[in-house]
Amino acid sequence: MSENTIEQKKKTIFSGVQPSGKLTLGNYLGAIRNFGPLQEEYNCIYCVVDMHAITVRQDPATLRRQTLEVLAQYIACGLDPDKSTLFIQSHVPAHAELAWVLSCYTMFGELSRMTQFKDKSSKHADNVNAGLFTYPVLMASDILLYQTDMVPVGVDQKQHVELARNIAQRFNGVYSDTFVMPEPYIPQTGAKIMSLQEPSRKMSKSDENQNSFILLMDKPDDIMRKFRRAVTDSDTRVARGEGKDGVNNLISIYALATGKTPEQVEAEFEGKGYGDFKPAVGEAVVELLRPIREKTEALLQDKGYLESVYKEGAAKANYLARKTLDKVYRKVGFVKR
Ligand code: TYM
Repeated sequence: MSENTIEQKKKTIFSGVQPSGKLTLGNYLGAIRNFGPLQEEYNCIYCVVDMHAITVRQDPATLRRQTLEVLAQYIACGLDPDKSTLFIQSHVPAHAELAWVLSCYTMFGELSRMTQFKDKSSKHADNVNAGLFTYPVLMASDILLYQTDMVPVGVDQKQHVELARNIAQRFNGVYSDTFVMPEPYIPQTGAKIMSLQEPSRKMSKSDENQNSFILLMDKPDDIMRKFRRAVTDSDTRVARGEGKDGVNNLISIYALATGKTPEQVEAEFEGKGYGDFKPAVGEAVVELLRPIREKTEALLQDKGYLESVYKEGAAKANYLARKTLDKVYRKVGFVKR
């Protein structure tokens, strides 16, 4: 390849979202919001990671429905199937195949250090299965199969992307350059949206307390109610500060929803209290999510269209993934089929 073609080659972006529950405002602000703008400049591949979702028990019909819902939400959040490759992980067998090979290049100790494994295994103590433990290897395979340069994620996934880098580096060291080294791409604001009820913890779709998270599909009344009930602190000023996790979180959310800076938000609410601020955050989020919810609902009525998107996406992804997998199989010494 000449230097010129190397320069012209678009960088590759890969990311994934689990269909293990309804998507939250955290998923949107931390990750999906950033997917759309990237597709103008990069070669973008976005996956609905259904194989990751079964590391905790899922109801089959619900998993199927939510997988399509995440795909519809990708499109509703601005992803254009003509610009980005959108597909479902289980439709591209190379993910599972590479995961096996890479699991032989990943250390038990490395996986034991993953904080998400520690969290999830304590939460699902009755089902600490091997998949939950090796989950980051499957995630590394997702990323490395597409020779990914950048991985847009929230901060909770940074450790997994770093592990993918370590695995890539180890493999490249043994077999010469095989994988591109991926970089995490983490937004400055919104990388960790916190629970509305326990603002020292991240907003999570698996939280038992329904008031702790905002779903992208929540109706306006529910959104308003949840923000009105959001936990703040005994201070009354709308200002960021230490020990003000709840207010810091609401300021970030309001800033992202309105396109203002946190300083502008503080200035806007100078002299006003939480009684004014919390409903204002609610209203801003209602308006932010309204078009996404409406578009998702419309897309879910058109299963034929969604099917055409994920089939075409899988065909493109399969082609790319196969190329990397063939290279890996050759390098480790498997006989060509
Ligand atoms: P998942 O499905 O838990 O979350 C999807 C994306 O949303 C981000 N996120 C948040 N960001 C800010 N604040 C929050 N409260 C919040 N909660 C979630 C996550 O960081 C993520 O970017 N393992 C991944 C899915 C995955 C993946 C991949 C991602 C599988 N393979 C390859 C990137 C590349 C996960 O469980 O994300």
